[in-house]
Amino acid sequence: MAWQAVAEAGELQPGQMKRVEAGGRKLLLCHAEGGHYCIDEMCSHEDYSLWFGCLKGRSIKCSLHGSYFSLEDGRPLNEPADCALTTYPVKLEDGRIWVEA
Ligand code: FES
Repeated sequence: MAWQAVAEAGELQPGQMKRVEAGGRKLLLCHAEGGHYCIDEMCSHEDYSLWFGCLKGRSIKCSLHGSYFSLEDGRPLNEPADCALTTYPVKLEDGRIWVEA
């Protein structure tokens, strides 16, 4: 696990997402309610990118079948998804956003 800079501090407006790579994984950096979050890019239900979804509060909605996931701990909030996404620590330092993956 290592910290990696993935965005500039003001790069993402609230409600925006960015696909990033850290630790050899494809991740999604999200600016949602409460700050920045980082999760797996791909939905745990089927192999579909959550980048096509949308942010709502502190959750993200998969646009393929409509499951919402908590951005704080990755757990699915409704069916059909029943497996949690992995979440990754995020910090703001030196004017950049860092992810530990
Ligand atoms: S692929 Fe995301 S809910 Fe089905």
